[in-house]
Amino acid sequence: MARIPAPQGLPILGNTLQIPAQAPIEHFVKVASGYDEGIFQLEIAGRRVILVYDPDLVAEVCDESRFVKRIKPPLSIVRDFGGDGLFTADPDEPVWGHAHRILMPAFSQRSMKAYYPQFLEVAEQLVASWTARQGEDLPVADDMTRLTLDTISLTGFGYRFNSFDSPELHPFLQAMGGALTEAMHRNQQLPFVTKLKKKNEESYRRDVATMQALVDEVIKQRRADGGGGTKDLLGLMLEASDPQTGARLSDENIRNQVLTFLIAGHETTSGLLSFALYNLLREPHVLARAYDEVDRLLPGDEPPTYETIMKLDVIPRILEETLRIWSPIPAFSVTAERDTMLGGSYLIPKGQGVAVLLPSLHRSPKAWERPDEFDIDRWLPENKKGHHPAAYKPFGNGERACIGRQFALTEARLALALILRRFALSDPNVYRMKIKQTLTLKPDGFTLRVRERRAHE
Ligand code: HEM
Repeated sequence: MARIPAPQGLPILGNTLQIPAQAPIEHFVKVASGYDEGIFQLEIAGRRVILVYDPDLVAEVCDESRFVKRIKPPLSIVRDFGGDGLFTADPDEPVWGHAHRILMPAFSQRSMKAYYPQFLEVAEQLVASWTARQGEDLPVADDMTRLTLDTISLTGFGYRFNSFDSPELHPFLQAMGGALTEAMHRNQQLPFVTKLKKKNEESYRRDVATMQALVDEVIKQRRADGGGGTKDLLGLMLEASDPQTGARLSDENIRNQVLTFLIAGHETTSGLLSFALYNLLREPHVLARAYDEVDRLLPGDEPPTYETIMKLDVIPRILEETLRIWSPIPAFSVTAERDTMLGGSYLIPKGQGVAVLLPSLHRSPKAWERPDEFDIDRWLPENKKGHHPAAYKPFGNGERACIGRQFALTEARLALALILRRFALSDPNVYRMKIKQTLTLKPDGFTLRVRERRAHE
């Protein structure tokens, strides 16, 4: 049996004080680069945290007969507001299965086609807003957040944030940012420290209440509209029953699901699009290929059809490679179902959590040639065949993998295609990547400028 490598910590406090509150993931990635074993452990806030990034070890922790997702920190903190919604439900709670089966049809490729008019409507608002702001420094992450929040709320719940009408971000977003950041900080605090920080507790509670008030408003509006008939997420939750057990979702659970979808359904896709634009500005030859593709498949100014968007090939590969290099969710965790040996040598006791550290896995030299290079041709079908089966997990794993994957990728394809069809992009401020972490990652302070491309003037 081997000892899991671990950086030296302090008595009692362990490694807690070594981890920067604002950017824990960058610290973990740095530590990971010092251990070729692809695994290490830390003592954080009195807990033992094991992180893995060797693709073979990750393949083992993705074996759902040995490891499952259980709700522990930081997810147990997010549960303060996600409740028993899909993201933060424990596998033992029957409501996870009820909601999963009720909602799965709403995430089929067929449903993406049904949502397409709404995807298009919001993406066109982004293009109109950028057309009016040519030459200005555009706050990329904020505008991608406007796009993705408006898209999930319109398609999922028929609710309009109209985010592009306002220079300020909606109060929901400010509250969400506050709550997610606090959840991240609490994850690294000893519980007595959290209790001492009374002011933080107050603003945390206020943020959660702000988010819940919006959710109540969304549901109230639907009920006032007569409720029935609409086959969007909210319509299904209000009316459908679990095909396996016949169970219906309680009002409380629907509230939790709406909040879960409002958060999970936009925050990550916004990060994906922001990182994708960053990559395109750094890789002019890839940008040129993307322009060629949109000029070929989306000539003129007509709104593209769903079928046309599905024909894109370069843009989806830009998205896949972006999710490899900058995964908006930097880690997901699973728990050992019983005592088990990892890699034949590391004992993981029953109940111990293991986090898959995605930035290090996605750049593991064991799985990727030239891991730091942005190469969209890795995602050509003939090259994909050679990938290590566990080296790419931006959407998590197995039964608890992301339900919104197709939603995110369809929405992001369309948005990127419409942006590139209309605009030449530039980065006169020569942005240098600075990660902002609020549980998910985004490029902090990234701006770009646009001007209309001649062909479409
Ligand atoms: C779960 C990533 C977009 C809804 C997850 C997980 C990951 C992930 C890694 C697993 C978390 C874990 O194991 O703890 C992403 C990324 C996205 C994205 C990278 C965009 C690029 C979306 C969208 C929606 C969504 C658009 C909804 C419309 C969810 C939900 C879960 C989830 C509800 C929990 C699923 C369950 O446990 O049943 N996502 N996601 N996600 N995602 Fe996403």
